[in-house]
Amino acid sequence: MHVLNIGSLNIDNVYQVPHFLRGGETVAAYRRTLHVGGKGLNQSVALARAGIASSHAGIIGRDGEVLKNFLEAEGVNVAHVEMRADEASGHTVIQISPEGENAILYYPGTNTCLTREFVKNAVSDLKQGDVLLLQNETNAIRDAIEIGLEKGLRIVFNPAPFDRSVPLLPLNQTAALILNEGEARGLYSMDEAAAENLDDLELLTALGERYPNTTLLITLGARGVAVRIPGQSPKLFPAYRVDAVVDTTAAGDTFTGYAVRALTLAWNAEEKGEDPARCRAILEDGIKYAVTAAALSVTRAGAAESIPHFEVVDAVVA
Ligand code: ADP
Ligand code: NA
Repeated sequence: MHVLNIGSLNIDNVYQVPHFLRGGETVAAYRRTLHVGGKGLNQSVALARAGIASSHAGIIGRDGEVLKNFLEAEGVNVAHVEMRADEASGHTVIQISPEGENAILYYPGTNTCLTREFVKNAVSDLKQGDVLLLQNETNAIRDAIEIGLEKGLRIVFNPAPFDRSVPLLPLNQTAALILNEGEARGLYSMDEAAAENLDDLELLTALGERYPNTTLLITLGARGVAVRIPGQSPKLFPAYRVDAVVDTTAAGDTFTGYAVRALTLAWNAEEKGEDPARCRAILEDGIKYAVTAAALSVTRAGAAESIPHFEVVDAVVA
């Protein structure tokens, strides 16, 4: 079962500044560091480090070789990372103040240059039952879901960042939705007050009624993950407790990559004719690994670089 991630690729330019820029001002930064990122790239790195063979499809500009090279070095197939000469790669300019606060300017660039043809070409190597992973940081999400469904792919969607277009997508035909609490509440109701009255399990149950055939995974930060498998009652997986939280960047992306590993193992077992109880046990065991991997990522600084390798997670789970 192959996994294709169609997703964003970003260059993060991080500048240490004496204070945030004000209108009309020129400020010299003390230090600049470059990081690769984007939810798409981070999730492909998480998949690779989880030991899952996968491909990444996305668009970069002339400045984006670093993104493609990083994924390739992680062992991700980058045959469908295309370059466009007339637009810059998605990138950020991040100011870090002496107090450690940040201010971020984001330019989506080539992350919004995807076309229906690009998507069709990217999925052309896949077979029915393969997995298509998507986030909401690129355009053409509706195209990708529709084309994926036509091909009989299993769609796993992480609707981050959440916006008003998300509830209008054909989400009831996705195989799995991976959401954080804010995204789950936004999906339940654009009316925030309506969603606020529900506790975690009520929220999961309400979404389960709306998307009965979709596996729902709602991440709850330090509280863990609430999971609903179709036809089963909701279940809470507590977070793996860590001594010190260093940097929560990419916790969600780490969880998503490892959760896709868990889903893929369970679906493979299902295809081999294993009984439902066994498939469920495989999925639940995989979710424990995902929760542990996400917790380890918050104990390390940085985004993509903080995503743990499978051997490390395995040693902690064992
Ligand atoms: P996002 O960063 O996308 O908002 P969450 O904050 O829900 O996502 O974090 C994703 C997952 O990472 C959680 O479900 C949990 O398993 C793990 N996690 C996040 N914060 C912590 C923490 N402080 N301690 C342990 N695990 C954490
Ligand atoms: Na981190």
